[in-house]
Amino acid sequence: MKVTIDNITIDVEPGTTILNAARSIGGDVTPPAMCYYSKLQGSGGKCRTCLVEVAAGSTADPRPMPKLVASCRTTVMDGMIVKNITSDKVKDARAGVVEFLLLNHPLDCPICDQAGECHLQDLGYEHGKEGTRYEFARRTFEKEDIGPYIQLHMTRCILCYRCTYVADQLTDKRVHGILDRGEHAEISTYISKAINNDFSGNMIDVCPVGALTDRTFRFKNRVWFTKPVDAHRNCENPQCCGKATLWLRGDEVFRVTARKDEWGEVQSYDGKPGWICNTCRFDKKKTSDWVVEGPTKINRHSVISQGHYVGMVKPQETIKEVMGGRNPKLIMDIHDESEVNKPDVHLSKIEGPAHSDTFKEKDTIKN
Ligand code: SF4
Ligand code: FES
Repeated sequence: MKVTIDNITIDVEPGTTILNAARSIGGDVTPPAMCYYSKLQGSGGKCRTCLVEVAAGSTADPRPMPKLVASCRTTVMDGMIVKNITSDKVKDARAGVVEFLLLNHPLDCPICDQAGECHLQDLGYEHGKEGTRYEFARRTFEKEDIGPYIQLHMTRCILCYRCTYVADQLTDKRVHGILDRGEHAEISTYISKAINNDFSGNMIDVCPVGALTDRTFRFKNRVWFTKPVDAHRNCENPQCCGKATLWLRGDEVFRVTARKDEWGEVQSYDGKPGWICNTCRFDKKKTSDWVVEGPTKINRHSVISQGHYVGMVKPQETIKEVMGGRNPKLIMDIHDESEVNKPDVHLSKIEGPAHSDTFKEKDTIKN
């Protein structure tokens, strides 16, 4: 089937959702998704961040759809024309959805372990507004201890249901879910029982916000100060893929997570999602437990890439190409233009950062 998204036409299999069609194009054309998770059956349709405009339903019936639709739950029709970033209606609606998601979500990013890899934080920066119009008290919940491995912050939960699908589809018996409705909805108190399962740690990886975080990593480091590397081990658990990302500081393993793809979902291996077991995640915290493969590739737009380690996908340097293969030459000597620094002070020979005194002293290191 032919579908056109933001003026780009592609062919997809019948039954493909608009979101997955957009993902196959990639980049900004892809709507954000806070609740859909391709590896979890039944996910999607809860958060409304993936809304798009359908400008023409199909070749057979080219009428536009009267309302914006959730792209994660709407399948494409042949000849469908979809607008995502090219639609002002979508941008406006998405800003509204972000505002709703942030009604009760605390803005505690400075102390939240998810900061730097939080989808809601990114969404807030991309589509949010500076202020809030909300004047009422935010939701609060009784603190709940769900064991030594996972930290629950219910106030940060956006009720995406992903963790309940993990419990349902990866653990033996699901014993937690969403209780109550609307303002009072919360993931149930029985979540603590789902935690005693070998794969419960995957709930941390699927949570798009900081509601479920790794307790063994709690407040130990900001994620952008750590260095992620891909590593694997022969895990005895046949359900565990044994492929993980180690988040290092020096040689110390601060955290172990499943490997994520460009959409923030666990990567698949041999057609199966690469979930990891709790032993790999919480107990194997030495580099000697793992075979390190090399630096994890991080999107250069991510704050995590600010560490400038090898493996970062850098933008291509094109200046040489533009100049017909020549290296750029120094085209201006600053001292011809300004008296700001004495030209006889050789900056590269000064120990430590330069200071105004450096330029006043007589015996400053000279050329
Ligand atoms: S705890 Fe996280 S994964 Fe679970 S419903 Fe809330 S936001 Fe979603
Ligand atoms: S990702 Fe589509 S509704 Fe949440």
